[in-house]
Amino acid sequence: MSEAKRLAAEKAIEYVEPGSIIGVGTGSTVAYFIDALGRMEDRIKGAVSSSDQSSERLRAAGIEVYELNATGPLSLYVDGADECDPHKRLIKGGGAALTREKIIAEASARFICIVDPSKQVDVLGKFPLPVEVIPMARSLVAREILAMTRAQPVWRQDANERGVLTDNGNVILDIHGLAITDPLAMESAINQIPGVVAVGLFARRAADIVIIGGEPPKIL
Ligand code: 5RP
Repeated sequence: MSEAKRLAAEKAIEYVEPGSIIGVGTGSTVAYFIDALGRMEDRIKGAVSSSDQSSERLRAAGIEVYELNATGPLSLYVDGADECDPHKRLIKGGGAALTREKIIAEASARFICIVDPSKQVDVLGKFPLPVEVIPMARSLVAREILAMTRAQPVWRQDANERGVLTDNGNVILDIHGLAITDPLAMESAINQIPGVVAVGLFARRAADIVIIGGEPPKIL
């Protein structure tokens, strides 16, 4: 699938205006996008990044990283996704960067999502839905999610079986076994639970354009 990711990322470059400051997401598809940004002849002015990982890659490509508070609204945000439905609603957060991704998507006039074909689904939820949670609320939020959805929240662990910490110092619960028939309602219900920082459902602010990598790429 890495070839499809690369093709989607390179197609997205066509939407980038030289001299602009754009939002840049996180993940392996976005890594191809950052590499392509670095090769642009007419370069961008800089980027607002959704993770420390992407900031590092952007700087290595010679692209200046800006704080969102310093830039104001952005014209474009490019990011990957873990799942995408036909209405361009997404599950994101497989890379634990969902909160900053939500903030940048909200701040951007246009959100382009770049995916390989395996990310397309009719109903969101096969990919476990990530929720970023304040550490002291982990058990509370897990119990409330279980009661609300009847699906199982699992505390995300790293390879050494230590709880993953986000760039914001919070933990991730992944909700397994969902079939999300009303993404907007679920996004809003999970957001109401005290201790939830963000849920990786992008329904209220869905993508504007989805590029599915292939020869040729498909545009939704
Ligand atoms: C990070 C994300 C990524 O966009 C998502 O996990 C897709 O990653 P990849 O491009 O590596 O398949 O939401 O939090």
